Amino acid sequence: VGKPLLYFDSLESTNITAAQMAQKGTGEGTIIQADFQLAGRGRLGRKWDSPPGKGLWFSLILRPRIEPQFGAQLTLLTAVSLVETIDIFANLRCCIKWPNDLLFGEKKIGGILSEMTLDEMGNIDYVIVGIGLNVNFTKIDFDKSVADTATSIYLQTGNLFDRSEVLLAFREIFEKHYELWLARGFEFVRERWLAYNCTLGKNVTVKDDGKVIFEGIAESIKSDGSLIVKATDGTRKEFDFGEISIRF
Ligand code: BTN
Repeated sequence: VGKPLLYFDSLESTNITAAQMAQKGTGEGTIIQADFQLAGRGRLGRKWDSPPGKGLWFSLILRPRIEPQFGAQLTLLTAVSLVETIDIFANLRCCIKWPNDLLFGEKKIGGILSEMTLDEMGNIDYVIVGIGLNVNFTKIDFDKSVADTATSIYLQTGNLFDRSEVLLAFREIFEKHYELWLARGFEFVRERWLAYNCTLGKNVTVKDDGKVIFEGIAESIKSDGSLIVKATDGTRKEFDFGEISIRF
């Protein structure tokens, strides 16, 4: 609120523009939004299809004064804020697939790509939190590669939404959570993340670079955002969310 929101018709990726601006000293809270991304980026080096007119593609510049090891909490906080925005705005209750995929049912409706940069002292210089939300996609708007696994707010509610209003609603909810998180810590975020998640208790396959490396039941998350999976033989393993993906 009161912070700059910069809108572009098209960008390569809002995360890239936001990082360039952050490097030049742009302040915390600035949002970079594009109607269209030529090279939208997803997690794990994937591409994120970002056609014009259909979704919300934006990045937030943040400069939290916290230990870098807690940076991942920010992604969980963002996922929580997105679930609440969609719930309030569209009356649609999505769930979070660890670490930060937004699903409705089994289909993906949004995703988050956070990128943290440290200064030469090893402290957080800035974090770019990039958010992609499928707002007004119809079935045929999706790229073939994701047509069966993706959905949109429109497809689930039958209503088209004004994307800038969704963004403003998100900004308000996110800011409230962000302030609370800085003041009081991770506990309330963790509680809500747990309430909204649809990962824990499920059988999951953990993949690294496309290869299955572990199978078991998703058991819990730790305060650094990592996931604990318990195999059938009782062994537990912890996964950091930088490198891996899971499948139900
Ligand atoms: C994922 O689920 O893999 C994360 C997707 C993140 C996409 C958003 S769209 C706005 C921002 N800019 C990018 O290039 N990516 C993020």
